[in-house]
Amino acid sequence: MDKIVINGGKTLSGDLPISGAKNSALTLLPCALLTDEPVTLRNLPRLADVDSFGHLLNQMGVSTTIEGARPEDFGRVMTLRAGRITATVAPYDIVRKMRASILVLGPLLARAGEATVSLPGGCAIGNRPIDLHLKALEAFGAEIEIASGYVRASAPKSGLPGGEYTFPVVSVGATENAIMGAVLANGQCILNNAAREPEIVDLCKLLIAMGSDIEGIGTSKLVITGKDRLHGATYRVMADRIEAGSYACAAAITGGTLNLLGAKISEMEATVAALREAGVLIEENAKGVHVNASQGLKPLTLSTAPFPGFATDMQAQFMAMLCRADGASVLTETIFENRYMHVPELSRMGADIEVKGRTAVVRGISDLTGAPVMATDLRASMSLILAGLAAKGTTEVNRVYHLDRGYERLEEKLQAVGANIERVGD
Ligand code: UD1
Repeated sequence: MDKIVINGGKTLSGDLPISGAKNSALTLLPCALLTDEPVTLRNLPRLADVDSFGHLLNQMGVSTTIEGARPEDFGRVMTLRAGRITATVAPYDIVRKMRASILVLGPLLARAGEATVSLPGGCAIGNRPIDLHLKALEAFGAEIEIASGYVRASAPKSGLPGGEYTFPVVSVGATENAIMGAVLANGQCILNNAAREPEIVDLCKLLIAMGSDIEGIGTSKLVITGKDRLHGATYRVMADRIEAGSYACAAAITGGTLNLLGAKISEMEATVAALREAGVLIEENAKGVHVNASQGLKPLTLSTAPFPGFATDMQAQFMAMLCRADGASVLTETIFENRYMHVPELSRMGADIEVKGRTAVVRGISDLTGAPVMATDLRASMSLILAGLAAKGTTEVNRVYHLDRGYERLEEKLQAVGANIERVGD
């Protein structure tokens, strides 16, 4: 299996292009199920999860064609067409490898009137149930049965009647499934305490371009009036705010200066506020976001929260960065119960981190040291890359497939800004 080998200690500088957002792509792709007309997505990141999602949709009768980009370009253009849905099952083997496949539930139910989706089970960062996805769709009139590890959802012959649901906790995926379930309903569907992440705004914008009626976009109350049918559309996937935040941390941990091309501060304000508090200078310009971390890093106290709060998907990267801060930082993880799997690996690189329940105290040290490490999830793997970029000596990050799920051509992007990093086959 491939690994990434980093000889740390290089100060990064230069232009780094930010790809299309993985988490947007994974909710925009299933929208193709909602219409028999073609949906074209531009700026799709080249990632293993995007390919897997395409294959899942192929199994449901969706044709996919990829065009445009040359191999050396970032991003791709994919046209999806669900002329006729031929299967409504997302099998265990696919859902277990890619949790986001549960996002076919809402659109299949809306267009085909039924969906059978494997329960995803737990994952490396926690228990992650899907009860809220099911409760929201039930509130809109779906019938839900659970048997043999699968959820079977069905709608009345005439379609979902509509209804109202208030989420007891904010869930990105459940909000997405509920929105996609609602857009073809017979009546009005109201969601209260909906997630407000920029990826949900991206989803709503595509659905509007396809003819949907959604009010309250970007707020916690969404009012969706179902349409008889939706039409095709062409849409550009937003820039990946988590990728941008991760590379901002790469600049910070190496004391470097990066231009994150295509990034927008308005989509990552909590990350930017935290970086500024740590002493990093950040400005937006016509090309993207400029990050200058030539000053030392100050410690932080941070707690993860749903958008617009500090993203749980940035917690691991900040933890690595704060290992180099001048003092003790306190991080609290409130979204997932098991999201400190990177701590023992960072400790092997010399980090001084103490975890008590949901809180981690990170005491800054002058130098991390390279070591062979591995992580069990995507963002944890990125935190090890960041630590490796700053560490003295050689770091080998194993289980590269996690990174391939979420960072488009990571080593190429980092090499271009001065990192000594390469992918090595076994
Ligand atoms: C999405 C993102 C993920 C990010 C997370 C939180 C994608 C593909 N993934 O995951 O990168 O870390 O948002 O920003 O977009 N919950 C329930 N019942 C449910 C659903 C969720 O209890 O039915 C709980 C979860 O266990 C968790 C919390 O709600 O504690 C938030 O999870 P959620 O926002 O749903 O995360 P995902 O959509 O799975």
